[in-house]
Amino acid sequence: MQRCSPSVGLVAASIVSNVWLLTDDNNRRFLIDTGFGAERLNLWLSLARAGLNGPGDLAGIYLTHRHCDHAGNAEWLREKFRCPIYSHQNDARILSGELPAPTLGRGHGGLFDKVCCQIEDASPVRLQVDEAFATGAWRDGLHIYPAFGHTEGSVLIYHESTQTLFTGDALLAGIPPLRLFESLSLAVPAYSLDVAACHQHMLNFLRNPPDVAQLCSGHGPFVGKQVAAKLQRFQEQQRAPLVPEAIQRALNA
Ligand SMILES: [Fe+2]
Repeated sequence: MQRCSPSVGLVAASIVSNVWLLTDDNNRRFLIDTGFGAERLNLWLSLARAGLNGPGDLAGIYLTHRHCDHAGNAEWLREKFRCPIYSHQNDARILSGELPAPTLGRGHGGLFDKVCCQIEDASPVRLQVDEAFATGAWRDGLHIYPAFGHTEGSVLIYHESTQTLFTGDALLAGIPPLRLFESLSLAVPAYSLDVAACHQHMLNFLRNPPDVAQLCSGHGPFVGKQVAAKLQRFQEQQRAPLVPEAIQRALNA
């Protein structure tokens, strides 16, 4: 477990996707996302080293979205810790099997992306969410913002008292493919059902964000310094094309 701050830990042994441990002001601990199923042993060891062993150690599991590299261990964790799983209601209906999971892999990306999409399509996570949330204020000091379009119910989860923003795959924090080094980017088309909608939700959020002191993405390092300035700069970069429009027109002529 990588201790990022007094309130946030990163289950560092998890390689494919980030699993975040949030400790609130009442010392209650929550997991945000649960990682890929194949990494369960790593997750188990990392949680055990952090003193999380069984019932009573976790107050809840929040999912930013239903993809298998984020929800893959949720069911196992619920049984181990006897705590509820929360997700947005749109994803909860697919997780439960009430609605089918649309397939990914629609021609975007390279071979690596196609293989990852095939893994998701072949093994969508199935589980019953204990309680589904909508967007807006929620319990546990959380506020839910829409980031729909990566999945039907992909969201940003914001913890108000610690000013921590969990972005799942709607805002990535590292340079691909390994995402070891800090760099912000929007959702990847290959893994998103409606990437334009997801980008628009994210940009809407960035136009008037709450105070963010800690940024915890589904992929990439913890961002804990000058976060507000970095988000603002990122938002401005999205507004201003790298090549000015007049020059672009001349190049295309
Ligand atoms: Fe995803």
